[in-house]
Amino acid sequence: MHDEPTMRERPIGVFDSGLGGLTVLQALGDLLPDEHFVYVGDTARYPYGDKTPAQLRAFSREIAGFLLDQGAKLLIVACNSATAAALEDLREHVPVPVVGVVEPGLRAAAAVSRTHRTVVIGTQVTADSRVYEHAADQLRLDLALRTVACPEFVHLVEEGRTEGAEAERVVADRLAPLLTARVDTMVLGCTHFPLLARTLSNVVGRGVTLVSSADETAFETRDLLERTGWLRHGDGRGRRVFHTTGDPRRFRMLGAGFLGQTLEDVHHLPLGQLAAARREDPA
Ligand code: DGL
Repeated sequence: MHDEPTMRERPIGVFDSGLGGLTVLQALGDLLPDEHFVYVGDTARYPYGDKTPAQLRAFSREIAGFLLDQGAKLLIVACNSATAAALEDLREHVPVPVVGVVEPGLRAAAAVSRTHRTVVIGTQVTADSRVYEHAADQLRLDLALRTVACPEFVHLVEEGRTEGAEAERVVADRLAPLLTARVDTMVLGCTHFPLLARTLSNVVGRGVTLVSSADETAFETRDLLERTGWLRHGDGRGRRVFHTTGDPRRFRMLGAGFLGQTLEDVHHLPLGQLAAARREDPA
């Protein structure tokens, strides 16, 4: 079994298709400043939102294998699309706990919604999977839920075009049908969307509360570390190491906007190295 003092010192592995998961890492780092983190942004294969579930399961297995090779004591799937397609598969194939972002987002929505009319905005693969609807049933949450695919929002964010007239027009066009549906809560069911929050708020108005899964995911992670005895106690200066399958310079430059601080330690991770790390069988 796992030896607690050794586990405490090991990093938490976090991954996403690119930069969006850094919004989750920011919440994790704020709540768990002593923890070490290793982050993988699979920018070379971004976006995940238009991939098939089978592709996302394969990518997730590779990245999980790499993060385990880095000593990860647990994995955070900081991407709704990968959570939708691969969370269960990863839980069967990796020997450490795996946390996704769907259930935390739903719990946050259930806590704030007064009318229970909630909409989730996400990528195409997330909407098609109906992962939010299934999870709400499983958790027995009293939410009247629907998920709307907003693939163009991901591009606005990844290209840094989050505010201004063009962003407002794209968001308003997509969300127009919702504005008459009297929802009171909107779950940002894509880890890119917190960066679009100002524009989303301008379009949907003050009657709709925006909910992101980032904070709730961080709380769930802390609970898990407390339960296992793997919570690290230190001087509040946990290490953060970043790996991108794309261009490290671009990742460092754009990543600061997502993380809210400079990314110091960014490395290029070739896809061939990831493929070699893939875990084939239950460990
Ligand atoms: N960050 C991913 C998510 O949360 C979406 C971006 C993408 O399509 O790759 O679903």
